[in-house]
Amino acid sequence: MSAAEDAVLRALGAVLDPELRRPITDLGMVREVAVEADGTAVVGVLLTVAGCPLRGTITGDVEAAVAGVPGITGVRVEMDVMTPEQRNRLKEQLRGPGAERGVPFNRPGSLTRVYAVASGKGGVGKSSVTVNLAVALSRRGLRVGIVDADVHGFSVPGLMGITQPPTRVDEMILPPVAYGVKTISIGMFLPENQPVAWRGPMLHRALEQFLTDVFFGDLDVLFLDLPPGTGDIAISVAQLLPGSEILVVTTPQAAAAEVAERAGTVAAQTGQKVSGVIENMSWLQLPDGQRMELFGSGGGEQVAARLTSALGTEVPLLGSIPLDVRLREGGDAGSPAVLEEDSAAGAELRRIAGQLARRPRGLAGLNLGVTPS
Ligand SMILES: Nc1ncnc2c1ncn2[C@@H]1O[C@H](COP(=O)(O)OP(=O)(O)OP(=O)(O)O)[C@@H](O)[C@H]1O
Ligand SMILES: [Mg+2]
Repeated sequence: MSAAEDAVLRALGAVLDPELRRPITDLGMVREVAVEADGTAVVGVLLTVAGCPLRGTITGDVEAAVAGVPGITGVRVEMDVMTPEQRNRLKEQLRGPGAERGVPFNRPGSLTRVYAVASGKGGVGKSSVTVNLAVALSRRGLRVGIVDADVHGFSVPGLMGITQPPTRVDEMILPPVAYGVKTISIGMFLPENQPVAWRGPMLHRALEQFLTDVFFGDLDVLFLDLPPGTGDIAISVAQLLPGSEILVVTTPQAAAAEVAERAGTVAAQTGQKVSGVIENMSWLQLPDGQRMELFGSGGGEQVAARLTSALGTEVPLLGSIPLDVRLREGGDAGSPAVLEEDSAAGAELRRIAGQLARRPRGLAGLNLGVTPS
């Protein structure tokens, strides 16, 4: 290989596969590199599957990376598709050699913290909290994923602005990435607005498939956005991910707090840990600076205190998020409010994410039988 070709190859090391988030040079995706006499670089790229929706992105990224190499006058990207053997090698490389199928987050060595975001009542802001915490943690440099476990009422793709379907590499599903967060939702597999009329067993299977067939890679944090209540999905999550912890979302309202408490006390039966309570819609800041408590006050404190005494372990109130038009607008636009410096709700969500980020990675939710002093 000539020095110029070597330089091109090194530049390609900075090109990440948009879904796998690893250098294409590490993934066996660079078939050949040649530099012609006139300085044109020819890069042969192997796509995982034909019709890869991201071929345009990859082409652009390769062109941009290679164009900066000294002496290169032009770039030609030639696309091809991996053979089944090449794909198998890639899958094995991603999963680790000889890895058995199953939920990777349950393997003994898994250091991923899994948070199931739950509430009693619907519409209290679970999905908004989930995506904003995920994006805030990703911004802090953590590797983050979201599973939209609200199969009937999925909303995560919209909140994350994802319209692109997942790529399938044989049985492996590569989740779309938005704001650095790997995200999967049943909504990505359905024609627009088609309802999902499934009962418990099908819901369980869908969730199981997301957890086994979707390739998230090594995550620091995985969020599950649950449907409201303490139904089938909450129980499936406890079964499929026994190490998952629960984040309870409530509004300040007494009626919401009572049902939120039930969503938390389920943990006593499933053996899960409740890692905290988040109060949402806590107040509305009026133009004169006053706080109007539209939904009353104290719900978050109440749920935290009651869960602490019911479960016998400290369940903290992690934060209180004000009502904020920016949060709703950001949700509608697919651009989470935590990305906006001056959104009040965004700031509080960033603060809550900071508390989660400080918790050590690993042995998530496992009861080690010791009490830290
Ligand atoms: N702090 C807030 N300020 C303004 N609007 C908010 C706030 N929190 C949530 N919302 C809005 O309230 C609505 C419900 O929020 P969201 O969908 O996140 O709740 P949910 O608990 O996931 O609902 P569901 O139970 O249907 O899954 C959305 O329109 C969202 O934009
Ligand atoms: Mg929701």
